[in-house]
Parts: sequence; structure tokens; C-alpha cells
Amino acid sequence: MKFFIDTANLAQIKEAHDLGILDGVTTNPSLMAKEGIKGDEAIRNHYKTICELVDGGDVSAEVFSTDFESIVAEGKILAAIHPNIVVKVPMIKDGIKALKWFSDNSIKTNCTLVFSAGQAILAAKAGANYVSPFIGRIDDSNWDGMELIGQIAQIYALQGFKTEILAASIRSSLHIVRAAELGANVCTCPLDPILGLLKHPLTDIGLAKFLDDAKKMQH
Ligand code: E4P
Repeated sequence: MKFFIDTANLAQIKEAHDLGILDGVTTNPSLMAKEGIKGDEAIRNHYKTICELVDGGDVSAEVFSTDFESIVAEGKILAAIHPNIVVKVPMIKDGIKALKWFSDNSIKTNCTLVFSAGQAILAAKAGANYVSPFIGRIDDSNWDGMELIGQIAQIYALQGFKTEILAASIRSSLHIVRAAELGANVCTCPLDPILGLLKHPLTDIGLAKFLDDAKKMQH
């Protein structure tokens, strides 16, 4: 499973990249706004900096437009920033048309705001490279987000769809493990759930004992 970090914060992207396990980055307008980025040029520069930081990994950059022509125009500008840009397109009717256009024109895409298996089927049919089911937001509305990952994985395997399942809106380390078990190709989340995977009390206890015994060998 690939690990993407879900942030536009350069320090966090660098920290995750320095771990050596980062495969890419996802952003969205909320995450970009949180970093105080304003204006077209600043947006393009920020994406370029992220692409250079992650050095070869896919970087999802979301369009703001909602009609076909504008989504395509915006996506072309985003894709021209760097070869690793993946154009993130919302799950709407014109978005589906645009996904197909991007696919026919060799521009990589991530279909975002996916909350059902039916939407995931449409995204795959339109040729999206990634589909992003929002696990945490489904959980927030008292449904089981993880169930959707399993359902999409089963459908894609049965139907031979090539679209990669990008488990998004991941809120915990356990979410990452469950998404991996259920067949997600990628998970995207903030840095904390990734670092949370490190934690186990028996590791801490075991290491303390080993270090203690190592000291004994030195005297
Ligand atoms: C994914 O591409 C989205 O940016 C993200 O995962 C949404 O997460 P949230 O529900 O925590 O905002």
C-alpha cells in the first residue's frame, strides 16, 4: 500500500518524506487555505514546491471549477506545473466528463468526494487513476466508512477496473491498518496517524530492557 500525506504544510510533508516511506501528497482547497496561500501564482508555486519536496511522488491538486470546460482548462494549468501533478476532480456530472477527457489526454486524475460504491464505479468507468472514498466523513455520519473500501475493492477486482483505491479522510492509525486489510491501494492522512503506527508499549518496554542490558556489557 502506498502512503500519501494529506496536507499542504511543507514542514509536515518534509518530515514524512524524510522518514523514507512517503509515496505522494494529497491536498484540497481547505488544506491550501489553511496554509494561507492566496492567488493563482502563489497556488502554482506552492504545488511546485510540494512536487520538488516529494521528489517523484504523485501530488493531487484540486480544481475549483464545477463545469466541464472550466474543469478541463483548470486541470491543464495544474498539470503543466509539474509532471507529478494529479488533477483532483469532484464527483459531479461534469467532473465525470472531465475525468474521461483527462484520461483520453494522458493527464492523471484523482476523483474526490466519493461516498458510495456507485460513485466509485463511475469514477473507474471515466478512467480516473485514483478514487478517493472519504472514510472519516462517512464514520462521522454514523455509517461504516471502512465497509465502503471493502465493497469498492471487491467490485474493482471482479470487474478488472484499474483505478487505484485511495482511502481518504483517514483519521487514525487503525484506519490505515483496516484500509490495508481491505485492499486499499493507497491511504492518505495527516502525519500523526502515520507516526501512530510506530507505537506499541511492548516495543518501549523491550527496548528499555535491551538498552539496559547493553550498558551491562560495556562495564
Ligand atoms: C482527501 O483527498 C481529502 O483531502 C481528505 O482526506 C479529507 O479529509 P478530512 O475529512 O479529514 O477533511
